[in-house]
Amino acid sequence: MINPIAAWHTEHVYFNQLLGLLQKQIDVFHGGERPNYELMLDIVAYLRDYSDRFHHPREEVAFARLAKRCPDLGLVLSRLSQEHRVIAHAGEALREQLQAILGGAVVQRAALEVAAATYLVYYGNHIAKEEEDVLTRAAKELTLEDWEAVRTAVAPGRDPLFDGDPQERFRELRRQIALEA
Ligand SMILES: [Fe+2]
Ligand SMILES: [Fe+2]
Repeated sequence: MINPIAAWHTEHVYFNQLLGLLQKQIDVFHGGERPNYELMLDIVAYLRDYSDRFHHPREEVAFARLAKRCPDLGLVLSRLSQEHRVIAHAGEALREQLQAILGGAVVQRAALEVAAATYLVYYGNHIAKEEEDVLTRAAKELTLEDWEAVRTAVAPGRDPLFDGDPQERFRELRRQIALEA
């Protein structure tokens, strides 16, 4: 069995890489140039379609199990769980704006900046909090049966970006990630 904590942490590393790339595009935008909106949309689409549908539901099961074993973490875990809903919502808002821009609509500069900055800060802090407060405790407290429940929380899905050969639509994004490494 793959070490579930290592796999969990690896996904956080991937998500942080994507947030870093998104930040770079926002920096381009701040500099007054046209950012790579297609790339930005790919990043947000991936995070909506993979993280929100696979990573977060698995965490929800891990959090519920951990809350039972570690009552002292109850508040932290319920906040993190609430943040999953906020992240999904903020990600969808950002995706819609990027799609509108790519569709030729005029989106106010400030609106895109706020949506992107909110997403980046919120998501980055969320991951940092999980790494800091949750992963070590989960490694210590969760049982094999708990991990099985986490693993089967959602139907197995292939990671379309980081698993082996990326899906066609994510090839450019994978290339950009490799360039950053
Ligand atoms: Fe999370
Ligand atoms: Fe996470």
